[in-house]
Amino acid sequence: MELVDAIKERRSIRRYQNKKVPLEVVGEILAIAKHAPSSGNVQNWRFVVVFDKEKREKLAEAAFGQMWMATAPVHIVICNKIGDVEAIYGERGRNLYSIQNCAIFGAYILLMAKELGLDTCWVGAFDEEEVRIILNIPDDVRPEAIITLGYSAERKITKMKRREIETLTYIDSWGNRP
Ligand SMILES: Cc1cc2nc3c(=O)[nH]c(=O)nc-3n(C[C@H](O)[C@H](O)[C@H](O)COP(=O)(O)O)c2cc1C
Repeated sequence: MELVDAIKERRSIRRYQNKKVPLEVVGEILAIAKHAPSSGNVQNWRFVVVFDKEKREKLAEAAFGQMWMATAPVHIVICNKIGDVEAIYGERGRNLYSIQNCAIFGAYILLMAKELGLDTCWVGAFDEEEVRIILNIPDDVRPEAIITLGYSAERKITKMKRREIETLTYIDSWGNRP
């Protein structure tokens, strides 16, 4: 699939087939996504790849009961090792770069998964402390996103509308439109 098609065809999928995704495929996705940029190339992203059904159910509960998540055979939990970025860039590194780095990696995962014929949903609404406990994540590492991964079982996928880019873009100065 062309990159442009992966970008345009990706949708958040919230129901998955009961079909396993091998570790090798997850590895392939991550091995491509690792080419994502990061501030000072610090690569503060870490991942917990969750296959275990019981843990996936617990993660869905920790995501304020988004139980559809458990239908996905894999959850990729993107974690932010904040200290690595803060050590170089201070407050801006802690509160901005470290999060941006992980978000870019996450976006690459979504697109690479689509490229390989898999589907995803980015889940941001969850109780961080609960996720920490379920996955044994240390206190200095922040779980930032859970990406559900698998093969779509959705019959009718609603295409979410996007705002016209012209209404969101200025030229040369804030507020200036041609
Ligand atoms: C930061 C972030 C947090 C999100 N959190 C959730 C979530 O907790 N649950 C969910 O079902 N979708 C979540 N989504 C998916 C969005 O709802 C979805 O991307 C948006 O509605 C556009 O739909 P599309 O991805 O199908 O284009 C999140 C997306 C982002 C980027």
